[in-house]
Amino acid sequence: MKGIVLAGGLGTRLHPLTKITNKHLLPVYNKPMIYYPIEKMVGAGIRDILIVTGGKNAGDFLRLLGNGKEFGLDHINYTYQEGEGGIAAALTLAEFFADGKPVCVILGDNIFEQSISGYLENFKKQGSGARIVLKEVPDPQRFGVPEIRGDRIVRIVEKPRNPPSGYAVTGIYMYDAEVFEFIKTLKPSDRGELEITDVNNRYIEKGRMRFDIMQGWWTDAGTFESLHRASNLVRRNLEGECNPDGRPSFISE
Ligand code: G1P
Repeated sequence: MKGIVLAGGLGTRLHPLTKITNKHLLPVYNKPMIYYPIEKMVGAGIRDILIVTGGKNAGDFLRLLGNGKEFGLDHINYTYQEGEGGIAAALTLAEFFADGKPVCVILGDNIFEQSISGYLENFKKQGSGARIVLKEVPDPQRFGVPEIRGDRIVRIVEKPRNPPSGYAVTGIYMYDAEVFEFIKTLKPSDRGELEITDVNNRYIEKGRMRFDIMQGWWTDAGTFESLHRASNLVRRNLEGECNPDGRPSFISE
């Protein structure tokens, strides 16, 4: 399967840290943020990876990652997003790269503990449609939140005031080629973006969305608090301070 890392955006929630650089180049403990999703993809056997970025610092990705030798890759692909259109708009730029095949998409600010191999296996078995990964969180209102009935998601609500469940939709998505057709039919949301949640809801409406529950820890890193948490989680993991269930001992949730 091909992999797409979305690493654009203005990172306004991290100003002034992101005034002169891209959020995904900021440090998460001992590595630039973008290293983590790339490592997860490579660890699951994905060798054909596209980085979608934008803004004034796009060239820095090339300087940092080159052809991906550090990750054991022969090459990395890059594409450039003009302006700010949201996650789904960034994904449109990957249509040429996907070339009609299924893709695994990871948001470049999602940092998590365990391998994505199991999710990719499940998606392969699923055959077509889409697959997302959920994680129980203490603050679901910050994320896309699924309403679950039985073993089905009936809808996803983006940043709800009254979350329909305690789960966040993490930034790990698997799609068949139809995703690009769905994106073409989207309208911008109130925040003026093409929302990935709207894409996922299309799959749900068609009964073609499945999900996994993530094991181990997960965090985004797009706010001061979550960026700090991400660094702590990585550090504790490196120091082997996790409980047997994969939960760092200092996390109470
Ligand atoms: C985005 C998605 C949201 C998802 C989150 C995961 O939110 O819109 O559905 O739960 O990533 O990190 P954003 O980071 O744009 O606020």
